[in-house]
Amino acid sequence: MEWTKEMRYRRLEDVDDDTVKKIRERVLNCKWRQKFHIQPQAGLLNDPNGFSFFNGEYHLFYQWFPLGPVHGLKYWYHTKSKDLVHWENVGIAIKPDKYYDSHGAYSGSAIEYRDQLFLMYTGNTRNDNWERHPYQVIAVMNKQGEITKPLSPAIAKVPEGYTDHFRDPKVWKSGDTFFAVIGAQRKNKTGCAVLYCSKNLTEWTFLGELKTDLDHFGYMWECPDYFELDGNGVFVFSPQGLKPDGDHYQNIYQSGYIIGDKLDLDTLTFSDGHFHELDRGFDFYAPQTTYSPEGRRILVGWLGLPEIAYPTDQNNWAHCLTLPRELTVENGKLLQKPIQELKKLRKEKSVFEATIANETVKAFTGTSFELICEMAVDDSDIFGIEFRAKGDEKTIVKYDAKKKKIILDRMLSGQPVGEAYGTRRQCSLAGSKIKFHLFVDISSVEIFVNDGEEVFTSRIFPKADSNEIRFFADGGRASFRAEKWEL
Ligand code: FRU
Repeated sequence: MEWTKEMRYRRLEDVDDDTVKKIRERVLNCKWRQKFHIQPQAGLLNDPNGFSFFNGEYHLFYQWFPLGPVHGLKYWYHTKSKDLVHWENVGIAIKPDKYYDSHGAYSGSAIEYRDQLFLMYTGNTRNDNWERHPYQVIAVMNKQGEITKPLSPAIAKVPEGYTDHFRDPKVWKSGDTFFAVIGAQRKNKTGCAVLYCSKNLTEWTFLGELKTDLDHFGYMWECPDYFELDGNGVFVFSPQGLKPDGDHYQNIYQSGYIIGDKLDLDTLTFSDGHFHELDRGFDFYAPQTTYSPEGRRILVGWLGLPEIAYPTDQNNWAHCLTLPRELTVENGKLLQKPIQELKKLRKEKSVFEATIANETVKAFTGTSFELICEMAVDDSDIFGIEFRAKGDEKTIVKYDAKKKKIILDRMLSGQPVGEAYGTRRQCSLAGSKIKFHLFVDISSVEIFVNDGEEVFTSRIFPKADSNEIRFFADGGRASFRAEKWEL
């Protein structure tokens, strides 16, 4: 089906109930619906938005086009949870129904202030010539969950020197001042971020550009986020336009961070040139973090990428969010661990322990499970796990002990996706002991390597009965100790 501009910008409110019902029926017949990830009832989900803890609950909104698996008129959809594991669908939070967000309520963030949750987002607009103009908007949610949109935007103009690619405000508080970082593109078509400050979240003052060592680093920075953790400053963003470089930047767009001393709010300087990719898998973008009441920094990402067709498109939906991850800093690097609350999902447990030499051993079955596998290399060259497997179909995660690389291979994972960007992802990692911690849902996998040193996040689209979990060692021996839970 060809999605015309008219179809993409059709409003949900203008579509009759019968049509909406038909769209949803196709979704329900999809064999790749997830069991424990946040996914849209129908249509397309993209960035997590407004991730926050407010009034005793976590709130997590997402970008949503309700009428099909394409990027069209975006709404904010609201979900909430008491434990970050079980999420309740609340409904639409922000409709793009004002002059300042006529072509989409784009991404943004949330912060509590005076017993209300302030939602700061980008209103996307287009004129008759389809030229873009962005506004930054503050909507307010009260404790009853009612959201009020303002008469006019908080920031109506793009400052001199930047194009209309100017969006995704992330707000935080330092002392008695609020700050917002916004993703931007300079007039010379390079990406950057700018900073604003405010005393009341209503009136904002432009401070200037965030000064980093990455002056020519892609053509646009989307979804910036700044936070402080264990005495460090961390700036997360999603740059577009990086060229593949060895094992790096293999996806269409990237997400990563720079880490250093805390941001100097007087000089706006954040000095560190090294960009670390947050995830090494095929499908991860536009993450956002929040602070939990006990002081953890938690990250959720979009488990998908723009401009790529996915097999669920034919069933009228696309994408889901990642599981929440807890961030910590070690040796100048972020570690990402699945939040401990996820243990609540665990059902029956099985254990496997063996030394494997030059063979593949079927150990468990499962299509939706958690697996922790600790492996020690003896004299094997390559060892690892095959999962969602049956016959030749399989997704493989392995360690190449000679090249010292972790490899995720989805060449044989089932229905192909994004093949133009390759079927393997890999990264270097040294060590004789390797721990893979997998969360496998019906059509995704999140692999935490060595307690969060690296993460590989990907969609996979295997057959429903591809349920074998196998361990293998090639070119010698490796020992395995694995625990698996049904989820
Ligand atoms: C990132 C992004 C944001 C924008 C939103 C629109 O995926 O392009 O920059 O606000 O998606 O849905």
